[in-house]
Amino acid sequence: MGLLTTSHSYRRPKICRAESNLGRCGFRGSSHIGVPYSTSKGPGVSHPYDSGHVAMTYTGLACLVLLGDDLSRVNKEACLMGLKALQLEDGSFYAVPEGSENDMRFVYCAACICYMLDDWSGMDIKKAIDYIRGSMSYDNGIGQGAGLESHGGSTFCAVAALSLMGKLEEMFSQRELNRIRRWCIMRQQNGFQGRPNKPVDTCYSFWVGATLELLDVFQYTNFQKNRNYILSTQDRLVGGFAKWPDSHPDPLHAYFGICGLSLIGEANLRRVHPALNVSQRAFEYLQHLHRTWRGT
Ligand code: FPP
Ligand code: ZN
Repeated sequence: MGLLTTSHSYRRPKICRAESNLGRCGFRGSSHIGVPYSTSKGPGVSHPYDSGHVAMTYTGLACLVLLGDDLSRVNKEACLMGLKALQLEDGSFYAVPEGSENDMRFVYCAACICYMLDDWSGMDIKKAIDYIRGSMSYDNGIGQGAGLESHGGSTFCAVAALSLMGKLEEMFSQRELNRIRRWCIMRQQNGFQGRPNKPVDTCYSFWVGATLELLDVFQYTNFQKNRNYILSTQDRLVGGFAKWPDSHPDPLHAYFGICGLSLIGEANLRRVHPALNVSQRAFEYLQHLHRTWRGT
């Protein structure tokens, strides 16, 4: 994970000092394009594709929080300026300032970043909400954007983003919320599927399960069937979880398998926070940080 916004306390100067570069700040997934770190050519990022990525900024900050960092070395202002530069007129977000796909995934990442930094100046909330509302489909699930197929992943991103904004109950009517609840409940077969007529997959035990939890109806799902499905995808030799039984495990499904089990209260697992997708413990630590920043 490469940090494009350097610390206030590091001896290195802040990379994002130049005004023209503030719109490129954030975290990178790695130094994968092979550009060595250098400030010798003056502040700013010199390579045209070496910018922050919204998902990496979200996960970078989340990793710092769950590792117990106090975020004092993060250049919050630069992260927020970088984020603001990613929002499109329709309220959605690009992943990178050079331009990329723009959809609900990145709206969710943006909401997580603003929530973690306790500062919503990084987005136009009204536009983001309009984008989310406009992505509700004819079948009452939510797609990646207007007119796109409802999916458990995008429904999670939309509902969790609104929840982090504190706007879930305000921006959808009770009737609409009930329709989203119904769409999500219908995704349970034994485990959960991401969309109608598709196979179940371990990761949806989190994506759809967490959405149902945020909508206060997860308790009406069948925990036993969900648990049995998740455990059936566990690899007993290598360890971890796959998306299907007798398939190769991978880190993403190992993580979301554990999250799915955590949601149903599996013993000896930490509770997962359904909106921010970190442990409840990390979430409470973040709230402690926010109280410290606000002096309350
Ligand atoms: C599979 O699509 C896609 C997934 C399993 C990912 C779903 C999750 C999201 C879109 C949320 C991502 C959030 C962030 C922050 C990046 P598929 O068409 O292969 O599988 P399907 O048949 O199950 O739909
Ligand atoms: Zn999956």
